Amino acid sequence: MIKRKIIIDCDPGVDDAIALAFAAANRDRLELLAVTTVGGNQAIEKVTRNALDLLDFYGLDVPVAMGADSPLIREPMYAPEVHGENGLGNCALPKTSRTPEKENAVLFLRKILLALPEGEKATLVPIGPMTNIALLVKLFPEVKDRIREIVFMGGAACGGNVTSSAEFNIYVDPEAAKMVFRSGIPLVMCGLDATLKCCLTRGQVLKLCQSPQRIAKLCGDMAGFALENSSSKYRGVVSIHDAVPLLYLLHPEIFTVKRTILDVDCSDGVSRGTTLCDFRWWEHEEEEMKDFVLMDADTKAFQEKLIEALYGLT
Ligand code: RIB
Ligand code: CA
Repeated sequence: MIKRKIIIDCDPGVDDAIALAFAAANRDRLELLAVTTVGGNQAIEKVTRNALDLLDFYGLDVPVAMGADSPLIREPMYAPEVHGENGLGNCALPKTSRTPEKENAVLFLRKILLALPEGEKATLVPIGPMTNIALLVKLFPEVKDRIREIVFMGGAACGGNVTSSAEFNIYVDPEAAKMVFRSGIPLVMCGLDATLKCCLTRGQVLKLCQSPQRIAKLCGDMAGFALENSSSKYRGVVSIHDAVPLLYLLHPEIFTVKRTILDVDCSDGVSRGTTLCDFRWWEHEEEEMKDFVLMDADTKAFQEKLIEALYGLT
């Protein structure tokens, strides 16, 4: 079986941490070349520390490079109410002695991509604000033909979680999203239309918390924090948004996908960070409709595959 080469750009982050666990459980099908970090759920120092500790805990020997500490233009906006002061639901992890790469994430991404064997490409999986990816494609356009596609968690065809129409990753750095959307690289938007349905119930979280398996228990404890300390407590379920791009890569059949052209509102008004999906195929040439958006998800199938993966980790 050909393994899909991927690079995850993240801001761990409870759901980022669970996504990394899912990647660890699927290392036979996903070749994780590198992890890069970006300020988002928490400050860059915290999310980078978390990424290093998580990869060590998961037994993944993957390089980590630290990226942007703030959005391209706007002020940082952290989410301790969802992810805790330490970014991992205030769950403690053994501290690894590993350190990040000496290069900044953008330079490291360029190095990794240009080092790929001729004809090979990697899939970028941004699951935080897209600041690093925007800088990469703007500063080093030569890497574009080494990128198969960008499968990202962010945005929504309809809905929002920071405002009624804007999702956190896009809202934090809409200019970065615009630069990525205009890069010409094929995009798959794993937005709230699907990720809100990719959730775990309180019962499933409780069972994970009671697991004797250390990684399953950690994921349960982190998800439990998010479940009890955010709007999830009213929904009674916690969405594992960042696992969705990886579930899509391995199990596309559990999602409904639609072709579109993506854009984003970079105003400062009420619609800041709103992603716009142009579905008007009759107005555009076939090749213009190069993007896809996940419009729906099979919740039960998502839960089965994620939970099976987490319990499979020792
Ligand atoms: O809106 C959900 C996204 O924002 C996820 O990536 C979560 O980790 C936060 O970064
Ligand atoms: Ca994230």
